Amino acid sequence: MTSIKPFQLEDLFTINPVNLDPLTENFNISFYSQYLISWPNLFYKSVEQPLGATSGYMMAKTEGQLSKMEYHTHITAVTVQDQYRRISLASKLCLQLEKISEVQQTLFIDLFVKVTNLLGKMLYEKLGYSVYRRVVGYYGGGRSMPDDRTAIDDDIDAFDMRKSLPLDRDSQTVREMGEKVYVLPNEVVF
Ligand SMILES: CC(C)(COP(=O)(O)OP(=O)(O)OC[C@H]1O[C@@H](n2cnc3c(N)ncnc32)[C@H](O)[C@@H]1OP(=O)(O)O)[C@@H](O)C(=O)NCCC(=O)NCCS
Repeated sequence: MTSIKPFQLEDLFTINPVNLDPLTENFNISFYSQYLISWPNLFYKSVEQPLGATSGYMMAKTEGQLSKMEYHTHITAVTVQDQYRRISLASKLCLQLEKISEVQQTLFIDLFVKVTNLLGKMLYEKLGYSVYRRVVGYYGGGRSMPDDRTAIDDDIDAFDMRKSLPLDRDSQTVREMGEKVYVLPNEVVF
């Protein structure tokens, strides 16, 4: 049986099996701590009983101003340990975030996913997310800052995906055909 519980700092010592996936971003302790301090209700884990193993987690934050139609929930990481995949755990973690976000009255939920991360993209599409724009060179790391937004490269580009929430009554925060909208990382505020 799976239950969802708040993430705690000491969980960092037990999540290596979850974080081993190359598509799961690993952060330093101060980054995780900042999320726990600032957005504790948006950082939670799925736990498998009776063993108590952490099978996955959601790490998210809120940002932006409502007056600018920017107030939203951002998924920083959602990941599931490989042996617990394909049993709707990631879907549950995301749907839980939607419920919390509706209570917190954010306008939409967004995330960045690698263009090559087909499973991640399928997960989000199944949950009603769509591509808002393609961020060219977002995962370029040490390479120089990209300055040509037409120089698309599947290996280092990100899709910025969004799902609008009930507060965004006219769906102003999402768009169609977003995969064809190319932007540079320095043009992305959130
Ligand atoms: C992407 C990831 C989170 C999916 O976790 P999961 O718990 O297996 O996902 P779910 O069981 O909720 O699957 C939801 C949908 O995603 C798609 N999907 C997920 N894994 C799939 C696979 N191996 N093959 C085909 N479709 C898949 C399906 O549409 C699935 O719905 P369905 O089972 O009804 O067909 C998991 O593979 C993972 O942790 N990957 C590494 C980290 C990552 O990429 N995170 C997302 C980007 S931030």
